Amino acid sequence: MILVQISDTHIDAPGTLVYGHFDTSEALSRTVATINAMDPGPDLVLHTGDIASHGSVARYEAFRHIAEKLTAPVALIPGNHDDRDALRAVFGGTPWLPTTGDFLHYVIEDQPVRIVCCDSVIAGIAAGELCSDRLDWLDARLSEAPDRPTIVALHHPPFYTGMTGTSAKGLVQGGGELDQLLRRHDQVVRVLAGHVHRPITTSFGGTIASAGPTTCYPFGLDMGPERVLNVVHEPPAIAVHLWLEDATPAGADLVSHVQPVGDWDAPITLLREGVNVLES
Ligand SMILES: [Fe+2]
Ligand SMILES: [Fe+2]
Repeated sequence: MILVQISDTHIDAPGTLVYGHFDTSEALSRTVATINAMDPGPDLVLHTGDIASHGSVARYEAFRHIAEKLTAPVALIPGNHDDRDALRAVFGGTPWLPTTGDFLHYVIEDQPVRIVCCDSVIAGIAAGELCSDRLDWLDARLSEAPDRPTIVALHHPPFYTGMTGTSAKGLVQGGGELDQLLRRHDQVVRVLAGHVHRPITTSFGGTIASAGPTTCYPFGLDMGPERVLNVVHEPPAIAVHLWLEDATPAGADLVSHVQPVGDWDAPITLLREGVNVLES
């Protein structure tokens, strides 16, 4: 299985340069082209939230206009900038967001790794939570298939990144409970999040948790006492998660890469079929 994770596309009004510099729609278009050029291509593209900067039907239709060019199926998770009602209006009941009810959470069952998509949004504020209702839902979903390798995906990372310019961590409520819950379900191979606009990895809940890179404007790795949050001109990127049957001596596991998106010089081939083809 090849799972591409995109995050924090922050689609804005057409023609807008966010912070005077960033055309997030153009960045998404380049990202779509990068993903479609993958060989082999992904089995699924998972968006871990902040689809638009100001969630609305118009912004989600603009996102869909670009993202529907993806040749792989797409699944969406809401972020703090998203609007549940507008997301439902545009994507509800489709394979992109097959959900009803209070929270936009659901399970993707048709991949070798089961993906439990959570809704960590608190409407109107940046921080996230998993309340008791959402934790109970997650516990029930994980109890349904204890023998299937599983990814738990949500927008807000449940860990502190060390970036002092942002709030302490994305998931301000329910993180301790989530940690304990995951320790009871050892089939969880990864927690995937977004929100912090940088690829970051740590241990959490007896498994590995990571935040994926953004396709729009990365946040700087600012760790000093001044507590400054910068957006930086590093390239957008995607995460590519491979489920490999022979990943480790113990067997199958999830192996994750970060792939920057941009126009690079043509690659220089060193080896072909294991044979050196370049004179040094
Ligand atoms: Fe974001
Ligand atoms: Fe966010």
